[in-house]
Amino acid sequence: AAVKKGCQLYKDIKSAAGDVSAVLKDLDDQFHKKHPPDNPPTPAQVKQFNEKKAEVKADKKVEVKKEAKAEKKAEKKEAKADKKAEKTLFEELSRARPGYGFNMEESGVVEGSDKSHTWHIDPLDGTMNFMHGVPHFAISVGLERDNQPIAGVIYDPIKDELFIAERGKGAFVNNRRLRVSGRIDVVDGVFATGIPTISKSNHPAYLKKLANVMARSSGIRRMGAAALDLAYVAAGRFDGYWEEGLQSWDMAAGIVMIREAGGFVSDLQGKDLMMESRSVVCGNETMHKILLGMVKDA
Ligand code: IPD
Ligand code: CA
Ligand code: CA
Repeated sequence: AAVKKGCQLYKDIKSAAGDVSAVLKDLDDQFHKKHPPDNPPTPAQVKQFNEKKAEVKADKKVEVKKEAKAEKKAEKKEAKADKKAEKTLFEELSRARPGYGFNMEESGVVEGSDKSHTWHIDPLDGTMNFMHGVPHFAISVGLERDNQPIAGVIYDPIKDELFIAERGKGAFVNNRRLRVSGRIDVVDGVFATGIPTISKSNHPAYLKKLANVMARSSGIRRMGAAALDLAYVAAGRFDGYWEEGLQSWDMAAGIVMIREAGGFVSDLQGKDLMMESRSVVCGNETMHKILLGMVKDA
C-alpha cells in the first residue's frame, strides 16, 4: 500500500502531459455517433471534419512547443516527485515498522533503534527513462535483516505490475507465482545489462564483457531500470542479468525476488557480496554459471 501511494505522484505527472491522440479519439467518437451507418456524412461533412482534426493537431503542436520550453521546469518537478514519493514511503514504513533503519537514495541513511532491520528504498528506479518519457521505471523497496535481503516490492506504475517476494514464501507478480526461465542453452538466452554511462569508469573492461555475451547469446537488453531487470529475471522474461556500480536500493528487493523464484544471484566475483561489491549476476542455476563465466572480473 505504501509503494502504491508513493507511486501516485508519477501517475499524476504522466496524466498531466497533453495527449493529442485521446482528444482526436473523442472527436472521432462524436462524429461516428452523429453519423451512424444509416445516416452517413456527406463528402462536405467529412472534409469539414478532417479540417477540424488537422486544426486540433496543429494546436497541440503549439502546446508541445510551449511544453518543451517549460521542460526545465518540468524536470525540476519530476526531480521533486521522487523526493516526495520517498518521503511518503519513509512515513508509511516508519509507521508500519517502528524502529527499522532506512537507506534511501534521496535522503540517505536514517539509523533505527532496531539495528537488525534496514529498508533500502529507491523511490524512482529508471530516472532517465522517466525524464525522457520512456514508460519503464519503478519504485523499489527491499528489507534487509542481519545483512540478508528478506523481502522486496518492485512496482511498475505504468504496466501496473506489482512484484513482491518474501524469503521462504515465494515471489509473485500481481498474485501470479514467479519462476526463473528454464532455458539452459546460452545461445537461446536473452540477457539484460546496465551499460556504464559518462559518469562511470572502466568502459573498456565493460565492452569486453559485452562482447563475450553478444557473441554467444540470442540478445542483450539495456532497459534502464535495474530493479525491473532483476524482477524480469525472476519472472523468466530475461534469462540473466549483470551490472556493476549498483547501489543497495537498486538490488535489495530484486535479490530476494530472484532467489524466491528459484534463481541464483552473486556478485561479479561469484560471491554472495552483492551489496558490498555493488555488482550483480543472476539467472537460473545454469545461466548464472555461464553468464558469470562470461562477465566475471578477469
Ligand atoms: C539507475 C538504473 C539503471 C542502472 C543504473 C542505476 P536510477 O538507477 O537502475 O538501469 O543502469 O546503474 O543507477 O538512477 O534510475 O535510480
Ligand atoms: Ca533512483
Ligand atoms: Ca536506481
